[in-house]
Amino acid sequence: MAFETIIVKIDDHIALIKLNRHDALNALKQKMLAELCTALEEADSNDKVRCIILTGSEKTFAVGADIKEMSELSYADVASANLFGDPVDRISNIRKPVIAAVAGYALGGGCELAMACDFIIAAESAKFGQPEINLGIVAGMGGTQRLTYAVGKAKSMDMNLTGRFMTAEEAERSGLVSRVVPSKKLMEEAHSAAQKIAEKSLLAARTVKEAVNRSFETTLSEGLLFERRVFHAMFATEDQKEGMAAFLEKREAQFRNRWRRGYFRLCKTVIFEY
Ligand code: HXC
Repeated sequence: MAFETIIVKIDDHIALIKLNRHDALNALKQKMLAELCTALEEADSNDKVRCIILTGSEKTFAVGADIKEMSELSYADVASANLFGDPVDRISNIRKPVIAAVAGYALGGGCELAMACDFIIAAESAKFGQPEINLGIVAGMGGTQRLTYAVGKAKSMDMNLTGRFMTAEEAERSGLVSRVVPSKKLMEEAHSAAQKIAEKSLLAARTVKEAVNRSFETTLSEGLLFERRVFHAMFATEDQKEGMAAFLEKREAQFRNRWRRGYFRLCKTVIFEY
């Protein structure tokens, strides 16, 4: 599908989605978020894709929701449209791993978008912030929630109440990003991480994502039980047999992302109906 506000490239099992409103610092217009959701869903259902990278430009990831587009909206407008509810849900429902590669500003909805991905690789130039309070509003796409899970209450309060920006170095120290790399190496590092993920079993990678995300939603004992159930379910995949055989035979595994015949119904029951 052709898009106006983003660029999508699929190569070597990796879908690269680039936010492309550089003149507006990738301010997130409604159209852009809708296109992004469509592109993510298309990549999620494309059998050739095993990992997704979301990025902006070398100078800016995204500066948040488009203030020009929002400024005149009334309470009735935003409440009845459930503004930003649809993209949050659709992005959260992507089952394949999504890496955010962030250079420059990731502010407001831009920071929230990066946090909605599975992990963030940051360039040294990256700056993260939830400056909505400067506009007389609060975060609306996870800035008070995902940021608190990532960096803890003290820093989240600090960021959301003062609106200050966090450097890449502070973001890594605080657990918001997984790695910081020199700005010129950002895309190389993101591709290398995506390539590593793409070489694994997609069934296992999806299950890792599901299990880690479950840890935010449930108690430790329920989370551990969920993890054990999905661990058991992995033994119904061809990839478990191949991965272990390859290890024992001292060769590279060739994962085919397939359930063993006759096990699919059982696994669906164990994983999804448990
Ligand atoms: C629309 C924006 C924008 C935004 C910047 N611009 N941020 N337009 N929406 N969020 C525009 C400016 O109006 C300006 O347009 C141009 O981009 C360059 O911005 P400058 O301010 O001149 O550049 P600079 O001095 O370098 O400062 C960059 C900046 C600053 C630090 C990023 O622009 C800034 O603080 N922007 C606002 C960031 C923000 O508050 N984000 C939260 C949005 S609310 P012109 O036409 O003058 O050149 C939000 C709610 C989330 O995200 C809800 C869920 C999505």
